[in-house]
Amino acid sequence: MEARPSSSLSGRAQVPGDKSISQRALILGALAVGETRISGLLEGDDVLNTAQAMRQLGAKVERTGDGTWSVRGVGVSGFAAPEKPLDFGNSGTGCRLVMGAVAGAPIKATFDGDASLRKRPMGRIFDPLVQMGAKVSTVSEGGRLPLTLAGARDPIPIVYRTPVPSAQIKSAVLLAGLAAPGVTTVIEKEASRDHTELMLRHFGATVAIETEGVHGRKISLTGQPELAGAPVVVPADPSSSAFPLVAALVLEGSDIVLTEVMTNPLRTGLFTTLREMGANIEELNRRDDVGEPMADIRVRSSKLRGVEVPPERAPSMIDEYVVLAVAAAFAEGTTTMRGLHELRVKESDRLAATADMLRVNGVKVEISGDDLIVEGRGHVPGGGLVATHMDHRIAMSALVMGLGSVAGVKVDDMSFIATSFPNFVPLMRRFGAELT
Ligand code: S3P
Repeated sequence: MEARPSSSLSGRAQVPGDKSISQRALILGALAVGETRISGLLEGDDVLNTAQAMRQLGAKVERTGDGTWSVRGVGVSGFAAPEKPLDFGNSGTGCRLVMGAVAGAPIKATFDGDASLRKRPMGRIFDPLVQMGAKVSTVSEGGRLPLTLAGARDPIPIVYRTPVPSAQIKSAVLLAGLAAPGVTTVIEKEASRDHTELMLRHFGATVAIETEGVHGRKISLTGQPELAGAPVVVPADPSSSAFPLVAALVLEGSDIVLTEVMTNPLRTGLFTTLREMGANIEELNRRDDVGEPMADIRVRSSKLRGVEVPPERAPSMIDEYVVLAVAAAFAEGTTTMRGLHELRVKESDRLAATADMLRVNGVKVEISGDDLIVEGRGHVPGGGLVATHMDHRIAMSALVMGLGSVAGVKVDDMSFIATSFPNFVPLMRRFGAELT
């Protein structure tokens, strides 16, 4: 597909439901007793794979309408042994959170995924799970997929300091801790997204959240709760909103509204950074009545300037650096994004893929250690073909860049966009984007 130079974007639309919350709603619904009704579920491949895994583990999962789903769970430790391997496709979150949930059940399950997921590190997840009593066997080098996990019969509650700020590691430990007697504690030096903690409380678990140092948190879960099915309303995904948002900023004369976007402060580092760059982003109709804060986001095209993004902001915008790099290319001046080591282990080596994406389109960019430095010149030549490396966010960011570029941008593979934002192309076209 090619993104051609486009004129201004206008209109109002809602991007699909938040991926993190959609995944958690299915998993916690499957671990609860009774029915969980979900509305606004993201019906992207990543989430559909998790729904299928929950079925294989014994939960009843049904689609009842557009984005509305019903899950009847089996209770904490109630998973049945799946007959076939669980295939999580491209999804690190689905795979890793379910590894945690399985670690607290007396069953064996094999975990697998696509070529991208098979390259990603899993030791960071199963190290604490093994401490809790699970057993892991893997045939591949370096603790990668496919692997087989045998859950603990008597899980041990632990105190675990995460080696990197990661909501996936934190969530896996907490989900395993559900089956353990006593208190399971996760300490993180920098706070990562807290959707698991918030949703566990919503389903009836006791979770204490304290601050730890300047940027960190200590989360303590009381084990063996009776989780009860509860309704979940999934707000629009701020990470998906980021693509039309940056497109509107860089296309002169644009004025768009993205409705019901989740604004949990542990997810909105991009909004903070773009505002520092001079972006005109307004939050309208703020609401807080569905478990997570949300607002309608009005974005008008803005003259952007380069900034320095501090490393401690990374957890709150970890999925947004690719599209921020696009905004930085259209800004005037240098943008330095610091502390991006975790980008190397995302759906692709995102640090390298982002630099290549910019370079082939005439943008000056440098990787220095874990930092990405983009030289903004106020315009992007374009004309390049971007290698997406099975990474949805590289594909969408490259297309956003193409819309504002002089010569357009092509991407080699559109298929992975369906993992997180299945209607990306029609939604962007409705705003006025030229995608052909
Ligand atoms: C996610 C956590 C993040 C993020 C991913 C979704 C989650 O990964 O990159 O897209 O839903 O918990 P890490 O926890 O590995 O940083």
